[in-house]
Amino acid sequence: MRSKQEWRRAKVAEIETPAPDIRLVTFAVDGLTSGFDPGSHTNIKVMINGAPAIRTYTVIPSRPGTLAIAVKLHPNSRGGSAYVWTLKPGDVTEMTEPENRFELSWRASHYLLIAGGVGVTPIYGMAKALAARGQSLRMVYGAKNAASMAFAPELKDLLGERLATFSHDDGEAFDLAAEFAALPADAEAYICGPLGLLEAAKRAWRAAGRPASRLRYEVFGDNGRFAEEPFEVDVAGFGTTVAVRADQTMLEALQEAGVPMIFDCRRGECGLCAVKIVSSTSDLDHRDVFFSEEERREDPRICACVSRARGGRVVIDNGYVTEGRVPAQPALGLPAG
Ligand code: FES
Repeated sequence: MRSKQEWRRAKVAEIETPAPDIRLVTFAVDGLTSGFDPGSHTNIKVMINGAPAIRTYTVIPSRPGTLAIAVKLHPNSRGGSAYVWTLKPGDVTEMTEPENRFELSWRASHYLLIAGGVGVTPIYGMAKALAARGQSLRMVYGAKNAASMAFAPELKDLLGERLATFSHDDGEAFDLAAEFAALPADAEAYICGPLGLLEAAKRAWRAAGRPASRLRYEVFGDNGRFAEEPFEVDVAGFGTTVAVRADQTMLEALQEAGVPMIFDCRRGECGLCAVKIVSSTSDLDHRDVFFSEEERREDPRICACVSRARGGRVVIDNGYVTEGRVPAQPALGLPAG
């Protein structure tokens, strides 16, 4: 799916703090043409180190004419969350009409919702929608501790015994194998959380012999094995070295340098931005959910929108255009043509 790129003026209407490190910002948005389904996300224009950039966040259920995002101030943030945390009522930016790549199927007899930390943002809307329609569901929600579980009071009121919470500080953890074993054959699981949780869920789901099409997930693009470090990229046949700052993605740096790139989701999900790694002087930090662990071992490609190198220099082959530069512009979607 392509980004709709329908930008709307968005004015901060309200700021709440559902957890100490999570800020819920509600924007009054001009000209929204429709409502949105749970799991939808919006793009927002942010400023990072004085330069414009675009970040993507899940939209939280909110009143008509508004879009709300819940953003965790992440110590390893590339700058998007820090920007959102500077906003105050009356500030103006732009946001896109929501679109959805993490949709509920509405075909299962039972739904298991799994949220890790601020991964609760799409799961919260799903739980509300499923409960409102009387669907069978269970939600498991893990976070550092009880205080850091945004929306937990509302979810407890809504779901009662159907909600199980897990506090990492108290030594509690999900038992994914047991959760999956307890599901009816046509159940579906929806997961949002850090990369490690998603990888563990995919392994447990496969081990349980369940069909891959019934496990759906979304990941945070800024969640990798290593903290962000600057690194350099040589594009085979392009004749220049591109510096990637710690606060930007490889995709953004390559686009700024005029390297033609194909991309869409910018969340490590669609695989369109994948580039071949010819060589690397440092470890690679795979942050996508597009490639399986086996594919990563066999196929030296990474998703430029989220994955990165841990410093040093990588040589990439972007595989299709190296004839010349295109005008530098912010990443918004597939290049024309
Ligand atoms: S643009 Fe979709 S994985 Fe990078």
